[in-house]
Amino acid sequence: MTNRKLKNLLVTGGSGFIGANFIKYLFNKTDFAGKIINMDNLTYAGNPENLIDIDTHYGKSRYFFEKADICDYDAAKRIFEKYDIDTCVHFAAESHVDRSIYGPKDFIETNIMGTFNLLEVARKLWKDRNDVLFHHVSTDEVFGSLGDEGYFTEETPYDPRSPYSASKASSDHLVRAAFHTYGLPITLSNCSNNYGPLQFPEKLIPLMIMNIFEGKSLPVYGDGKNIRDWLYVEDHASAIWTIINKGQTGSTYNVGGENEWTNIDLVNKICQCAAELLSKDQGEIKKLITYVKDRPGHDRRYAIDCSKIKKELGWKNLTSFEEGIKATVKWYLDNLEWVEHIRKGEYQEWMNKNYEQR
Ligand code: NAD
Ligand code: TYD
Repeated sequence: MTNRKLKNLLVTGGSGFIGANFIKYLFNKTDFAGKIINMDNLTYAGNPENLIDIDTHYGKSRYFFEKADICDYDAAKRIFEKYDIDTCVHFAAESHVDRSIYGPKDFIETNIMGTFNLLEVARKLWKDRNDVLFHHVSTDEVFGSLGDEGYFTEETPYDPRSPYSASKASSDHLVRAAFHTYGLPITLSNCSNNYGPLQFPEKLIPLMIMNIFEGKSLPVYGDGKNIRDWLYVEDHASAIWTIINKGQTGSTYNVGGENEWTNIDLVNKICQCAAELLSKDQGEIKKLITYVKDRPGHDRRYAIDCSKIKKELGWKNLTSFEEGIKATVKWYLDNLEWVEHIRKGEYQEWMNKNYEQR
């Protein structure tokens, strides 16, 4: 087990769902004493409001925002040099499967070329240093689709089936190639579906929550029996923190919630939580559930075996699904303005005012 000293940490995609939760986790729940530099080009999914609390407390002392594209070599090099980066935690990506089906090109550019670009910068600037680390955040979707039995382990062969998962698989291979070919110190994590505050309301859980609040139909793809393993985003953040501190260089760790739900059961559960919070009749809310045409190439089941990170690094999940889902539904109810902003693109104006003029 390694024990790294992390000082100047570059987080790519820090204004998105998991990246922002990770940055908050580091500042609020760990003893990390270094600097965090958030490199994000603020696509539709990036929202600087996600980190307004962090910016207020730590802006220009320990937290720095750099609006830049990971595909831009010069920008990445400048940021690595300016902040003397020793650790990169790479979240930035196009992340939604449905969007990848209808417009795969951005996924190829950002997820593959963007990752390649960062690896090039890291290996050229870090040369033979071994006090550095490139951590790549990936998904269990690279392993393909499971039947009723079995789990994805770190040894499961890759079998991506959507443009999103194919692009993530490609980026994983490039990260491992940089380790084997150039000796770049890397770690990698493949994680199951995350849920929690700050998730863009295009993904299943926040979409359903928002549609319930707005009395809109709840679109369930196909027969609703597809299965996902849901992980609370703060538990994902703690897994990454554990890996970058103690993970074996060159290793991959699977991270999962050990919490499988069929989509239809999950949607029913969200209806139940929302009914309790809104003091409404559960049956009325459930009437909004509508089966719709299936997603093309819809993977049937994802399930993660995360025994390696538990045994080797002592990580564990701390949030029960009951707790996590209630907290998530409540968070959206308490933050309707956030949803309005992210949907209308007002965050772009906010960013122009608050970041670029400083
Ligand atoms: P997200 O879509 O919420 O956020 C992505 C962030 O990356 C946004 O802030 C966006 O502005 C930024 N970004 C996109 N393209 C960029 C570019 N070219 N240059 C700089 N920044 C760019 O995504 P998320 O759900 O937070 O996922 C983060 C990472 O975790 C991704 O790599 C994703 O593949 C992986 N992952 C996500 C899940 C999940 O359930 N959401 C599960 C497993 C793995
Ligand atoms: P999603 O949140 O898009 O994550 P992923 O595709 O990466 O697993 O979808 C989770 C599951 O929910 C997936 O099986 C597709 C399904 N789904 C619906 O049934 N309806 C929806 O409106 C969405 C967005 C997803």
